[in-house]
Amino acid sequence: MDEHLLEVRHLKKYFRTGKNQVQKAVDDVSFYVRKGETLGIVGESGCGKTTCGRTCMGIYEATEGEVLYKGMRVGSLRGKEKRRFTKEVQMIFQDPYASLDPRMKVGDIIAEGMLAHNMAGNGRECMEKVEELLAAVGLSGGHRDRYVHEFSGGQRQRIGIARSLAVEPELIVCDEPISALDVSVQAQIVNLLMTLQEERGLTYMFIAHDLSMVRYISDRVAVMYLGKIVEIAPSGLLYNNPKHPYTRALLSAVPIPDPKAQAERKRFSLRGERTSPANPGSGCRFCGRCDEATDICAQEEPMLREVEKGHFAACHLYKEESASAGPDNGQAGAKGGNAG
Ligand SMILES: Nc1ncnc2c1ncn2[C@@H]1O[C@H](COP(=O)(O)OP(=O)(O)OP(=O)(O)O)[C@@H](O)[C@H]1O
Ligand SMILES: [Mg+2]
Repeated sequence: MDEHLLEVRHLKKYFRTGKNQVQKAVDDVSFYVRKGETLGIVGESGCGKTTCGRTCMGIYEATEGEVLYKGMRVGSLRGKEKRRFTKEVQMIFQDPYASLDPRMKVGDIIAEGMLAHNMAGNGRECMEKVEELLAAVGLSGGHRDRYVHEFSGGQRQRIGIARSLAVEPELIVCDEPISALDVSVQAQIVNLLMTLQEERGLTYMFIAHDLSMVRYISDRVAVMYLGKIVEIAPSGLLYNNPKHPYTRALLSAVPIPDPKAQAERKRFSLRGERTSPANPGSGCRFCGRCDEATDICAQEEPMLREVEKGHFAACHLYKEESASAGPDNGQAGAKGGNAG
Protein backbone atom coordinates (compact mmCIF):
# COMPACT_ATOMS: atom_id res chain seq x y z
CA MET A 1 0.00 0.00 0.00
CA ASP A 2 1.18 3.52 -0.71
CA GLU A 3 2.20 5.11 2.51
CA HIS A 4 2.27 8.88 2.56
CA LEU A 5 5.32 9.74 4.60
CA LEU A 6 4.61 13.44 4.33
CA GLU A 7 1.31 15.23 3.83
CA VAL A 8 1.21 18.94 3.26
CA ARG A 9 -2.22 20.53 3.51
CA HIS A 10 -2.98 24.09 2.48
CA LEU A 11 0.40 25.22 3.70
CA LYS A 12 1.11 28.94 3.86
CA LYS A 13 4.30 30.59 4.99
CA TYR A 14 4.27 34.36 5.02
CA PHE A 15 7.21 36.50 6.12
CA ARG A 16 6.66 39.92 7.57
CA THR A 17 9.09 42.11 5.65
CA GLY A 18 7.99 45.60 6.62
CA LYS A 19 5.48 47.42 8.72
CA ASN A 20 2.53 46.58 6.50
CA GLN A 21 4.21 44.16 4.18
CA VAL A 22 4.20 40.42 3.97
CA GLN A 23 6.07 38.15 1.62
CA LYS A 24 3.81 35.27 0.64
CA ALA A 25 6.67 32.84 0.11
CA VAL A 26 4.44 29.76 0.19
CA ASP A 27 0.79 30.46 -0.46
CA ASP A 28 -1.55 27.51 -0.03
CA VAL A 29 0.23 24.43 -1.32
CA SER A 30 -0.97 20.86 -0.85
CA PHE A 31 0.93 17.74 -1.80
CA TYR A 32 2.17 14.47 -0.39
CA VAL A 33 5.35 12.43 -0.58
CA ARG A 34 5.00 8.66 -0.70
CA LYS A 35 7.42 6.47 1.19
CA GLY A 36 10.33 5.52 -1.06
CA GLU A 37 9.63 8.01 -3.85
CA THR A 38 11.33 11.19 -4.96
CA LEU A 39 9.20 14.27 -5.34
CA GLY A 40 10.98 16.92 -7.40
CA ILE A 41 10.13 20.57 -6.65
CA VAL A 42 11.06 22.97 -9.40
CA GLY A 43 10.72 26.68 -10.10
CA GLU A 44 12.60 29.93 -10.55
CA SER A 45 14.60 31.59 -7.84
CA GLY A 46 12.36 33.07 -5.17
CA CYS A 47 9.27 30.95 -5.91
CA GLY A 48 9.32 29.46 -2.42
CA LYS A 49 11.03 26.07 -2.78
CA THR A 50 13.42 26.45 0.15
CA THR A 51 10.73 27.99 2.33
CA CYS A 52 8.45 25.06 1.54
CA GLY A 53 11.21 22.55 2.35
CA ARG A 54 12.14 24.30 5.60
CA THR A 55 8.54 24.54 6.73
CA CYS A 56 8.08 20.82 6.04
CA MET A 57 11.10 20.20 8.27
CA GLY A 58 9.68 22.32 11.06
CA ILE A 59 12.49 24.88 10.77
CA TYR A 60 9.86 27.50 9.98
CA GLU A 61 6.51 27.60 11.66
CA ALA A 62 3.63 27.43 9.18
CA THR A 63 1.53 30.58 8.92
CA GLU A 64 -1.50 28.45 8.04
CA GLY A 65 -2.17 24.87 7.07
CA GLU A 66 -0.31 21.83 8.28
CA VAL A 67 2.47 19.39 7.58
CA LEU A 68 1.97 15.80 8.70
CA TYR A 69 4.89 13.39 8.99
CA LYS A 70 3.69 9.80 9.47
CA GLY A 71 0.40 11.35 10.44
CA MET A 72 1.91 13.55 13.16
CA ARG A 73 1.64 17.31 12.96
CA VAL A 74 5.18 18.61 12.50
CA GLY A 75 4.57 21.95 14.25
CA SER A 76 3.28 20.28 17.42
CA LEU A 77 5.91 17.56 17.96
CA ARG A 78 7.37 17.42 21.44
CA GLY A 79 9.81 15.27 23.40
CA LYS A 80 10.45 11.81 22.07
CA GLU A 81 8.46 12.33 18.89
CA LYS A 82 10.34 15.51 18.10
CA ARG A 83 13.67 13.76 18.59
CA ARG A 84 12.56 10.98 16.31
CA PHE A 85 11.48 13.49 13.68
CA THR A 86 14.79 15.40 13.79
CA LYS A 87 16.62 12.12 13.30
CA GLU A 88 14.37 10.71 10.58
CA VAL A 89 14.13 13.87 8.49
CA GLN A 90 17.40 15.31 7.23
CA MET A 91 18.37 18.05 4.82
CA ILE A 92 21.23 18.45 2.40
CA PHE A 93 22.13 21.82 1.02
CA GLN A 94 23.25 23.56 -2.12
CA ASP A 95 26.48 24.75 -0.55
CA PRO A 96 27.95 21.92 1.51
CA TYR A 97 30.91 24.11 2.40
CA ALA A 98 28.70 26.53 4.30
CA SER A 99 26.94 23.73 6.15
CA LEU A 100 30.04 21.72 7.15
CA ASP A 101 32.21 22.99 10.01
CA PRO A 102 35.67 23.83 8.57
CA ARG A 103 37.38 23.26 11.96
CA MET A 104 36.14 19.72 12.36
CA LYS A 105 37.62 16.58 10.84
CA VAL A 106 35.37 14.88 8.33
CA GLY A 107 35.02 11.82 10.57
CA ASP A 108 33.80 13.97 13.44
CA ILE A 109 31.35 15.81 11.20
CA ILE A 110 29.84 12.51 10.13
CA ALA A 111 29.80 11.09 13.66
CA GLU A 112 28.24 14.16 15.27
CA GLY A 113 24.61 13.26 14.56
CA MET A 114 25.12 9.62 15.53
CA LEU A 115 26.54 10.69 18.89
CA ALA A 116 23.72 13.17 19.46
CA HIS A 117 21.16 10.43 18.89
CA ASN A 118 23.08 7.79 20.87
CA MET A 119 23.55 5.68 17.78
CA ALA A 120 27.33 5.41 17.75
CA GLY A 121 28.10 2.80 20.42
CA ASN A 122 31.72 2.78 21.57
CA GLY A 123 34.58 4.62 19.83
CA ARG A 124 35.54 1.69 17.68
CA GLU A 125 32.00 0.99 16.53
CA CYS A 126 31.55 4.68 15.71
CA MET A 127 34.73 4.71 13.63
CA GLU A 128 33.61 1.65 11.73
CA LYS A 129 30.27 3.28 10.99
CA VAL A 130 32.02 6.42 9.73
CA GLU A 131 34.18 4.32 7.43
CA GLU A 132 31.18 2.43 6.15
CA LEU A 133 29.42 5.73 5.42
CA LEU A 134 32.46 7.18 3.64
CA ALA A 135 32.59 4.07 1.46
CA ALA A 136 28.85 4.30 0.79
CA VAL A 137 29.28 7.80 -0.66
CA GLY A 138 32.36 6.91 -2.69
CA LEU A 139 35.08 8.27 -0.38
CA SER A 140 37.80 6.32 1.40
CA GLY A 141 38.23 5.61 5.10
CA GLY A 142 41.44 7.67 5.08
CA HIS A 143 39.41 10.82 4.33
CA ARG A 144 38.14 10.66 7.89
CA ASP A 145 41.06 12.64 9.29
CA ARG A 146 41.00 15.42 6.73
CA TYR A 147 39.26 18.81 6.74
CA VAL A 148 36.48 19.95 4.44
CA HIS A 149 38.62 22.56 2.64
CA GLU A 150 40.82 19.76 1.31
CA PHE A 151 37.96 18.42 -0.81
CA SER A 152 36.38 19.38 -4.15
CA GLY A 153 32.78 20.58 -4.41
CA GLY A 154 31.51 17.14 -5.39
CA GLN A 155 33.41 15.46 -2.55
CA ARG A 156 32.05 17.98 -0.07
CA GLN A 157 28.56 17.15 -1.19
CA ARG A 158 29.39 13.46 -0.63
CA ILE A 159 30.48 14.34 2.91
CA GLY A 160 27.21 16.23 3.44
CA ILE A 161 25.28 13.18 2.23
CA ALA A 162 27.29 10.86 4.53
CA ARG A 163 26.54 13.13 7.46
CA SER A 164 22.81 13.03 6.81
CA LEU A 165 22.86 9.24 6.26
CA ALA A 166 24.66 8.69 9.55
CA VAL A 167 21.45 9.02 11.56
CA GLU A 168 19.59 6.57 9.32
CA PRO A 169 17.01 9.02 8.04
CA GLU A 170 13.80 8.15 6.21
CA LEU A 171 13.21 11.42 4.40
CA ILE A 172 15.91 13.70 3.01
CA VAL A 173 15.03 17.19 1.79
CA CYS A 174 17.66 17.87 -0.86
CA ASP A 175 17.75 21.64 -1.41
CA GLU A 176 19.51 22.18 -4.75
CA PRO A 177 22.28 19.75 -3.81
CA ILE A 178 23.83 19.82 -7.27
CA SER A 179 23.20 23.38 -8.50
CA ALA A 180 26.65 24.63 -7.53
CA LEU A 181 28.52 21.68 -9.06
CA ASP A 182 30.02 21.14 -12.52
CA VAL A 183 27.67 19.38 -14.92
CA SER A 184 29.78 16.19 -14.98
CA VAL A 185 29.80 16.05 -11.19
CA GLN A 186 26.06 16.75 -11.00
CA ALA A 187 25.29 13.44 -12.72
CA GLN A 188 27.57 11.57 -10.31
CA ILE A 189 25.81 13.01 -7.27
CA VAL A 190 22.36 12.30 -8.72
CA ASN A 191 23.43 8.71 -9.42
CA LEU A 192 24.81 8.37 -5.91
CA LEU A 193 21.55 9.66 -4.40
CA MET A 194 19.55 7.20 -6.51
CA THR A 195 21.77 4.26 -5.49
CA LEU A 196 21.50 5.20 -1.82
CA GLN A 197 17.74 5.51 -2.17
CA GLU A 198 17.49 2.00 -3.56
CA GLU A 199 19.85 0.49 -0.97
CA ARG A 200 18.34 2.23 2.02
CA GLY A 201 14.73 2.76 1.04
CA LEU A 202 15.06 6.54 1.33
CA THR A 203 12.43 9.10 0.43
CA TYR A 204 13.51 12.38 -1.16
CA MET A 205 12.12 15.82 -1.69
CA PHE A 206 14.48 17.08 -4.36
CA ILE A 207 14.50 20.84 -4.95
CA ALA A 208 15.96 22.37 -8.12
CA HIS A 209 15.38 25.43 -10.26
CA ASP A 210 15.81 23.60 -13.52
CA LEU A 211 13.63 20.79 -14.85
CA SER A 212 16.54 18.96 -16.49
CA MET A 213 18.14 18.30 -13.12
CA VAL A 214 15.17 16.59 -11.53
CA ARG A 215 14.10 14.55 -14.51
CA TYR A 216 15.98 11.34 -13.78
CA ILE A 217 15.68 11.25 -10.04
CA SER A 218 12.03 12.21 -9.61
CA ASP A 219 9.03 9.91 -9.60
CA ARG A 220 6.75 12.93 -9.54
CA VAL A 221 7.48 16.60 -10.06
CA ALA A 222 5.77 19.70 -8.64
CA VAL A 223 6.30 22.99 -10.46
CA MET A 224 6.10 26.08 -8.26
CA TYR A 225 5.44 29.64 -9.36
CA LEU A 226 5.31 32.53 -6.89
CA GLY A 227 4.40 30.49 -3.85
CA LYS A 228 1.95 28.16 -5.60
CA ILE A 229 2.13 24.71 -7.12
CA VAL A 230 0.98 25.27 -10.70
CA GLU A 231 1.44 21.71 -11.92
CA ILE A 232 2.15 18.34 -10.32
CA ALA A 233 2.35 15.00 -12.06
CA PRO A 234 4.33 11.80 -12.41
CA SER A 235 7.57 12.68 -14.24
CA GLY A 236 6.68 10.91 -17.48
CA LEU A 237 3.42 12.84 -17.83
CA LEU A 238 4.96 16.17 -16.87
CA TYR A 239 7.86 15.96 -19.30
CA ASN A 240 5.96 14.41 -22.21
CA ASN A 241 2.71 16.27 -21.84
CA PRO A 242 3.26 19.48 -19.84
CA LYS A 243 0.02 21.38 -19.37
CA HIS A 244 0.81 24.65 -17.66
CA PRO A 245 2.29 27.36 -19.93
CA TYR A 246 4.91 28.01 -17.26
CA THR A 247 6.00 24.37 -17.22
CA ARG A 248 6.19 24.44 -21.02
CA ALA A 249 8.36 27.55 -20.88
CA LEU A 250 10.67 25.94 -18.32
CA LEU A 251 10.89 22.78 -20.41
CA SER A 252 11.65 24.64 -23.62
CA ALA A 253 14.75 26.02 -21.89
CA VAL A 254 16.04 22.47 -21.38
CA PRO A 255 18.19 21.44 -24.36
CA ILE A 256 17.30 18.23 -26.23
CA PRO A 257 20.35 16.10 -27.15
CA ASP A 258 19.02 15.50 -30.70
CA PRO A 259 19.86 18.66 -32.78
CA LYS A 260 17.02 18.03 -35.28
CA ALA A 261 14.41 17.72 -32.57
CA GLN A 262 15.93 20.74 -30.86
CA ALA A 263 15.64 22.85 -34.05
CA GLU A 264 12.06 21.76 -34.73
CA ARG A 265 10.50 22.16 -31.37
CA LYS A 266 8.27 25.03 -30.40
CA ARG A 267 9.80 27.64 -28.15
CA PHE A 268 7.84 29.14 -25.32
CA SER A 269 9.09 32.38 -23.99
CA LEU A 270 8.91 33.83 -20.52
CA ARG A 271 8.08 37.39 -21.33
CA GLY A 272 7.15 40.31 -19.14
CA GLU A 273 7.76 40.98 -15.50
CA ARG A 274 6.97 38.66 -12.68
CA THR A 275 4.06 39.62 -10.49
CA SER A 276 5.22 40.85 -7.12
CA PRO A 277 4.99 38.05 -4.55
CA ALA A 278 4.02 40.66 -1.98
CA ASN A 279 1.03 41.67 -4.02
CA PRO A 280 -0.04 38.93 -6.38
CA GLY A 281 -3.51 40.35 -7.17
CA SER A 282 -6.63 38.31 -7.76
CA GLY A 283 -6.01 36.47 -11.04
CA CYS A 284 -3.47 33.91 -12.14
CA ARG A 285 0.01 34.86 -10.95
CA PHE A 286 1.52 33.83 -14.25
CA CYS A 287 -0.98 35.86 -16.31
CA GLY A 288 1.34 38.79 -17.12
CA ARG A 289 3.93 36.50 -18.65
CA CYS A 290 1.61 34.05 -20.35
CA ASP A 291 1.18 33.99 -24.15
CA GLU A 292 -2.10 32.15 -23.81
CA ALA A 293 -3.80 34.30 -21.20
CA THR A 294 -7.44 35.31 -21.71
CA ASP A 295 -9.70 37.71 -19.78
CA ILE A 296 -10.56 35.26 -17.05
CA CYS A 297 -6.86 34.75 -16.22
CA ALA A 298 -6.53 38.32 -14.96
CA GLN A 299 -9.68 38.03 -12.84
CA GLU A 300 -9.84 34.61 -11.30
CA GLU A 301 -7.15 32.49 -9.75
CA PRO A 302 -7.12 29.04 -11.34
CA MET A 303 -7.38 26.08 -8.98
CA LEU A 304 -5.23 23.00 -9.21
CA ARG A 305 -7.37 20.41 -10.99
CA GLU A 306 -6.88 16.98 -12.46
CA VAL A 307 -6.37 17.34 -16.21
CA GLU A 308 -5.58 13.67 -16.83
CA LYS A 309 -5.23 10.80 -14.40
CA GLY A 310 -2.71 11.75 -11.73
CA HIS A 311 -1.81 14.98 -13.52
CA PHE A 312 -2.86 18.26 -11.91
CA ALA A 313 -2.52 21.77 -13.33
CA ALA A 314 -3.72 25.19 -12.18
CA CYS A 315 -4.61 26.85 -15.48
CA HIS A 316 -7.86 28.14 -16.96
CA LEU A 317 -6.98 26.56 -20.30
CA TYR A 318 -7.88 23.19 -18.89
CA LYS A 319 -11.05 24.02 -17.06
CA GLU A 320 -13.20 22.07 -19.53
CA GLU A 321 -11.11 18.91 -19.36
CA SER A 322 -11.22 18.69 -15.62
CA ALA A 323 -13.05 16.02 -13.74
CA SER A 324 -14.63 16.91 -10.45
CA ALA A 325 -11.24 17.19 -8.79
CA GLY A 326 -10.59 20.14 -6.55
CA PRO A 327 -7.19 21.19 -5.31
CA ASP A 328 -7.18 18.54 -2.64
CA ASN A 329 -8.05 15.61 -4.77
CA GLY A 330 -5.14 13.25 -4.47
CA GLN A 331 -2.82 16.01 -3.32
CA ALA A 332 -3.92 16.39 0.25
CA GLY A 333 -6.33 14.72 2.53
CA ALA A 334 -6.66 10.97 2.64
CA LYS A 335 -4.66 8.85 0.26
CA GLY A 336 -6.25 9.69 -3.05
CA GLY A 337 -4.26 7.09 -4.92
CA ASN A 338 -4.91 8.92 -8.17
CA ALA A 339 -1.45 10.34 -8.72
CA GLY A 340 -0.01 7.44 -10.37
N1 LIG B 1 13.45 34.70 6.17
C1 LIG B 1 12.85 35.39 5.22
N2 LIG B 1 12.36 36.63 5.44
C2 LIG B 1 11.72 37.33 4.48
N3 LIG B 1 11.52 36.88 3.23
C3 LIG B 1 11.99 35.66 2.93
C4 LIG B 1 12.68 34.85 3.88
N4 LIG B 1 13.05 33.68 3.30
C5 LIG B 1 12.59 33.77 2.03
N5 LIG B 1 11.97 34.95 1.80
C6 LIG B 1 11.34 35.38 0.55
O1 LIG B 1 10.39 34.39 0.19
C7 LIG B 1 10.42 34.13 -1.19
C8 LIG B 1 10.75 32.67 -1.43
O2 LIG B 1 12.09 32.43 -1.04
P1 LIG B 1 12.77 31.01 -1.11
O3 LIG B 1 14.15 31.14 -0.59
O4 LIG B 1 11.89 30.02 -0.47
O5 LIG B 1 12.79 30.74 -2.67
P2 LIG B 1 13.53 29.62 -3.52
O6 LIG B 1 12.52 29.13 -4.50
O7 LIG B 1 14.17 28.64 -2.63
O8 LIG B 1 14.64 30.46 -4.30
P3 LIG B 1 16.14 30.04 -4.76
O9 LIG B 1 15.96 29.24 -6.02
O10 LIG B 1 16.79 31.35 -5.03
O11 LIG B 1 16.77 29.28 -3.65
C9 LIG B 1 11.44 35.09 -1.78
O12 LIG B 1 10.77 36.21 -2.29
C10 LIG B 1 12.31 35.45 -0.60
O13 LIG B 1 12.86 36.72 -0.75
MG1 LIG C 1 16.14 28.04 -2.33
